[in-house]
Amino acid sequence: MEGALVNAPPVKTGVEVRVGDPCLVIIFGASGDLTQRKLVPALFNLQNQGFLARDVGVVGVARSEMSHANFREKMKPDESVLATEEARRAWGVLSERIFYQAGDVSQAETFQQLRDFLAKLDTQLKTPGNYMFYLSVAPEFFAPIVKGLGGAGLLEEAAGHWRRVVIEKPFGHDLPSAIQLNRDLRSVVSERQIFRIDHYLGKETVQNLLVFRFGNSIFEPIWNHHYIDHVQVTAAEELGVEARGGYYDNAGALRDMVPNHIAQLVSLVGMEPPISFHADAVRDEQVKLLKSIQPLSPEDVLHAAVRGQYGSGQVKGQKVPGYREEEKVSPESNTDTFVALRLYIDNWRWAHVPFYVRTGKRMPKRVTEIVIQFKAAPFMLFTRTPVSHLTTNRLFVRIQPDEGISLRFGAKVPGPILEMGAVKMDFRYVDWFGAKPSTGYETLLYDAMVGEATLFQRADMVEAGWRMVQPLIDVWKALPPRDFPNYAAGSWGPAEADALLERDGRHWENGDA
Ligand code: BG6
Repeated sequence: MEGALVNAPPVKTGVEVRVGDPCLVIIFGASGDLTQRKLVPALFNLQNQGFLARDVGVVGVARSEMSHANFREKMKPDESVLATEEARRAWGVLSERIFYQAGDVSQAETFQQLRDFLAKLDTQLKTPGNYMFYLSVAPEFFAPIVKGLGGAGLLEEAAGHWRRVVIEKPFGHDLPSAIQLNRDLRSVVSERQIFRIDHYLGKETVQNLLVFRFGNSIFEPIWNHHYIDHVQVTAAEELGVEARGGYYDNAGALRDMVPNHIAQLVSLVGMEPPISFHADAVRDEQVKLLKSIQPLSPEDVLHAAVRGQYGSGQVKGQKVPGYREEEKVSPESNTDTFVALRLYIDNWRWAHVPFYVRTGKRMPKRVTEIVIQFKAAPFMLFTRTPVSHLTTNRLFVRIQPDEGISLRFGAKVPGPILEMGAVKMDFRYVDWFGAKPSTGYETLLYDAMVGEATLFQRADMVEAGWRMVQPLIDVWKALPPRDFPNYAAGSWGPAEADALLERDGRHWENGDA
């Protein structure tokens, strides 16, 4: 009986499903990889799962000329995805509503033409004038496109319709440029109309952090400095920079991962309970947490932060080149591909509890995980027994792969002698809820369609993320690294990253507990 209850579908259980608002989704950068690999497949999954309104249209915009039919063909999912009758029907419905409009975003007339085309589609598809503009373009085009849309009157909301702009990181390359970008966007649209995607928030386990912490009564009472020794956040990738050297060599691991994805994870683990699940209530608490992170002094940067760059090595038995040998990367590059940091959160809940965070490319395995290390129990009871040390309790929140949550604790080893072993209780998403086709963009696109902003970053969150890392950017720029490359591809990063925790009497959990 209980099994039947907990095995019920995970999403919207017992709640009437609200389909997305009828609208036109206009994708700038439609010839790019993201559109084909994630955005259109996510729209297709939403269509297939009944989350799209009947009156929806998709318009791809890019520079090159292409017919609607060619664009549809390009976006068509693989045969394997269209294996069922149901899937083929869903694609049939969606593909008829996919269109293409060529245009150069540096020309004002592109936006006039787009306006006329969208008005025509509204009549043809019976859409009510709701437009979601998805800017899947390089960040230097965010502000010009938004200005172009504004100039053509495409961002004006009126009774009966909404206009929204969706953008994805990077939001600036440091604090001043992030502030400037926010200013530029808000000179045309209001904050309420901007949906800033951090694709980590599209991951189920990341969203589950809120439910886990605030939808259960047993964890919150111990979620503080009285019981928690420290927190670790790891986002490790096996991959190198692949074909993205051009972007990455100007960004590096710190900018690429820390003010955004890692900051999101830290804020969700550390935030206070919001007063409701309303978007601003949740985001207010996240920002409050980010603002409580102790600012790093230049000395802290030297002692509590580690940067690294991979040299050649082996990942999963395959020889791989060093970062400086990668395509579109300077052979003298000093760009970081690994970062580890110790942060403190200056508030009552987290006083003196270190948060160790790290991220790196070319690690031995792909694992994104949050580890909560609880304080050890007093040893007294065991002093006259063969037990030499106590297993400390660790809670593992596995974000990817194998999404789930595990708790490690000590148990008695069977037998006449009192011995203790570390055991684990495991919850794996796939065991309970099965796996659904997902690109990670479904929830985000759906939420943007219904105007639900909880999973999107507000301007102040973006700025708080950059404020956290700005001291590192400054000090590292002033003191270029002298030891790069300083870790072999396929290792867990530079030795200093291990030393960072060892100095505090701790060690990293490498996703293998
Ligand atoms: C992106 C970064 O934001 O996140 C990439 O730009 C990184 O460099 C990626 O590889 C990691 O995302 P995921 O979902 O694979 O953990």
